[in-house]
Amino acid sequence: SPPLRILGIETSCDETAASVVLRDEEGGGRILGDVVLSQLEEHSAYGGVVPEIAARAHVEALDTLIEEALLRAGVTLKDIDAIAATSGPGLIGGLIVGLMTGKAIARATGKPLYAVNHLEGHALTARLTDGLSFPYLMLLVSGGHTQLILVKGVGDYERWGTTIDDALGEAFDKTAKLLGLPYPGGPAVERAAARNGNPERFDFPRPLVGDARLDFSFSGLKTAVRQAAQSLEPVTEQDIADICASFQRAIARTLKDRVGRGLKRFTGEYQSVDRPALVVAGGVAANQTLRQTLQSLCDGQGFRFVAPPLQLCTDNAAMIAWAGAERLAAGLPADGLNVAPRSRWP
Ligand code: KG4
Ligand code: ZN
Repeated sequence: SPPLRILGIETSCDETAASVVLRDEEGGGRILGDVVLSQLEEHSAYGGVVPEIAARAHVEALDTLIEEALLRAGVTLKDIDAIAATSGPGLIGGLIVGLMTGKAIARATGKPLYAVNHLEGHALTARLTDGLSFPYLMLLVSGGHTQLILVKGVGDYERWGTTIDDALGEAFDKTAKLLGLPYPGGPAVERAAARNGNPERFDFPRPLVGDARLDFSFSGLKTAVRQAAQSLEPVTEQDIADICASFQRAIARTLKDRVGRGLKRFTGEYQSVDRPALVVAGGVAANQTLRQTLQSLCDGQGFRFVAPPLQLCTDNAAMIAWAGAERLAAGLPADGLNVAPRSRWP
């Protein structure tokens, strides 16, 4: 297909983002302009994302961010081939803001609109950053999702595993809260563990390890952390460091088992794939213990481990623009302006 320039819009959670991405004739991708505004400050006092506050913050910021992304890309709406906006899954208020804005631009310019599944954006990012070819495996670990997905083609995905309770990021956030650490909890738990935490001190549960399915479960871990903390009152700095290190150790072991099983299944089903790849995405991908675990797992099973730069692992609009570009290039039809946002979209 000819070179494509796509405007992407992302508003499904607590990041307002706009981006212009180029897809060249060979299928390579380049980010021309990219802006992300985090609402962390607005929500931190509440210890989590407040949907109404998020929706209002998207309304306030989105127009300016779109202008800024176009400016940085050195293009105007005339140069854009299509608009891609996240239409689910996520918080409905934010989705309405982003999708309606995308529709308005599509209506005003006469350009096609692609309503993009947020998870598809995460799933295809590795093709933008690393030019991966299909099929590959993706582990998505964020505050809202924990999924192992087989990426077979554009619009062609198989979910191999998901969490049966908490998302992994949620487990980090809840553990941090229990220990009196700040929000968001992931980075706080990682920092505490790094302060000489002893990962051997607590033998936390590793749910579903050994299970034949590829699902995850993290709520029991949180309960065990609570019990450990209660048994220690008053909890010292060293206790917190040890709990956090042991918590990360339990997660590493769980992922090693669950994802390792997924890699085996992949090599079983795709014996002809030369250099199979595992891609990681989502905010928890920032965690060093997790990265090391996945890296050594991949080394051991002959997989290439692909971790896109962190700003493209967490929520952004470049991945949404790219998903739109892939669909356009694959000849998939655009969406009608009557397309509805979906808070749930498996
Ligand atoms: O992808 P993301 O930025 O937003 C969505 O969930 O949509 O992921 C945020 C999650 C939060 O739960 C946060 O605590 C977690 O990612 N996180 C981490 C780290 N940095 C962020 N978890 C563990 N270790 C980290 N260094
Ligand atoms: Zn996300």
